[in-house]
Amino acid sequence: MGKRNNPARTTDDELIERAKEARLLAHAPYSHFAVGAALLAADGRVFTGCNIENATYSLTMCAERVAIFKAVSDGAQEIVKMAVVADSDPVTPPCGCCRQMIWEFSSEEATVLLANLVGDVQKFEIKELFPSAFDARFLEGVG
Ligand code: THU
Repeated sequence: MGKRNNPARTTDDELIERAKEARLLAHAPYSHFAVGAALLAADGRVFTGCNIENATYSLTMCAERVAIFKAVSDGAQEIVKMAVVADSDPVTPPCGCCRQMIWEFSSEEATVLLANLVGDVQKFEIKELFPSAFDARFLEGVG
């Protein structure tokens, strides 16, 4: 768990660097595709994650969701920015499940930075990656 401070003090490059470091901890013996993620929360803390695979395959968890689970379970519920790093060309985008999870814990303008190991970076707002989202608004007034 990082220190609370002004989120504006964490640059895109710093967040990408944290995701790169997290990637080195990936447990990916089946796909050999290591992914790292780092999210900047509204309170300035940075939470990291790596993908964690399992011999049953289907239990595999993506790096992005590991970072989100760590953040939420430590009381950080608002993602300002998330970086995702993999050794791929083009850069690796979050899967559909992870987009849904990022959406749950961010404003629609939250930044998603996609980077690889040779310096390519693409920057999106989550609403570009995840249009027409299903979310809590649809559940209002139900039940
Ligand atoms: N993976 C992630 O961790 N994040 C992504 O954005 C894409 C895919 C992982 C899941 C699995 O361990 C491996 O990459 C191959 O799909």
